[in-house]
Amino acid sequence: GTVGQVVESKRPGFAKGDLVQGLFGWEDYTVSGGEGLMGLQKLPAGTDPILALSLLGTTGLTAYFGTLAVGAVKSGETFVVSGAAGATGSVAGMIAKIKGCRVVGIAGGHEKCNWLLKEAGFDAAIDYKNEDVGAALAKHCPKGINVYFDNVGGEILDYALARLTFGSRVVLCGAISQYNNLGERNPVGPKNYFNLILNGARMEGFLVFHFLQRYPEAIAEMSKWYAEGKLKNQIDLQQGLEKAPKTIIRLFTGANFGKQLLKLGDPQ
Ligand SMILES: NC(=O)c1ccc[n+]([C@@H]2O[C@H](COP(=O)([O-])OP(=O)(O)OC[C@H]3O[C@@H](n4cnc5c(N)ncnc54)[C@H](OP(=O)(O)O)[C@@H]3O)[C@@H](O)[C@H]2O)c1
Repeated sequence: GTVGQVVESKRPGFAKGDLVQGLFGWEDYTVSGGEGLMGLQKLPAGTDPILALSLLGTTGLTAYFGTLAVGAVKSGETFVVSGAAGATGSVAGMIAKIKGCRVVGIAGGHEKCNWLLKEAGFDAAIDYKNEDVGAALAKHCPKGINVYFDNVGGEILDYALARLTFGSRVVLCGAISQYNNLGERNPVGPKNYFNLILNGARMEGFLVFHFLQRYPEAIAEMSKWYAEGKLKNQIDLQQGLEKAPKTIIRLFTGANFGKQLLKLGDPQ
């Protein structure tokens, strides 16, 4: 997702200087006819481009629809999210908290776990790089897991499947631990899926674009929560086109803290 500024336009409704959003490339200039999945959207005057790319952009909206439409969280339930200090996971956890859930986050490292507890308002945090995730889930989810929001796949998904409770939902949002195993290496499949059968549980994948028609509703609701201080927007801003390859790799090493952004230039 990209925010850019119009330098020249032959399209009615788009004038030089307008800020626009779309799925452009990592490049200084782009040519757009407005076609494609997200087309070309003009940002309303006064919109903060950073907010439009993070909390109110793809990852924030993914968190919203994954938690509310797919996960269908209910007050009092136990909600577990992996990739919890990331752009999608942190917002998913905060939304579940707004809806009255007990929220447990799984993230890598002490600093991220500390942030989840102190800043994001999570009830518990599990450092998967230094803790036994199975034992920690048993400790922090004594009544089992009602909703598991999965951003990472692999072993962590299996640990969560082992703790499902009756009628639970597993939200398949991403599987970042497995992306580099696609191709000639094989991704690791879930082993504990029998627990879905025993618990009448549901595991459902989704793409945020499946909810395109409902974006305005989500943006309005999330803007309100943000204004009320119920949602925090943690971003990680890198600078310069030449940093593009190193920046995307940050997602895979976990060097990013919050929404990974790359700034190519300032609007004029
Ligand atoms: N379904 C959709 O429409 C949709 C839309 C957007 C994103 N997604 C998915 O949502 C997930 C999060 O994306 P994001 O853009 O918000 O990124 P992000 O969570 O901000 O960054 C990725 C995080 O993944 C964690 N990670 C990397 N390798 C890992 C591994 N082997 N095991 C466990 N954790 C690992 C790292 O955190 P730690 O430091 O905690 O390891 C890293 O910070 C991704 O799987 C992405 O593909 C799905």
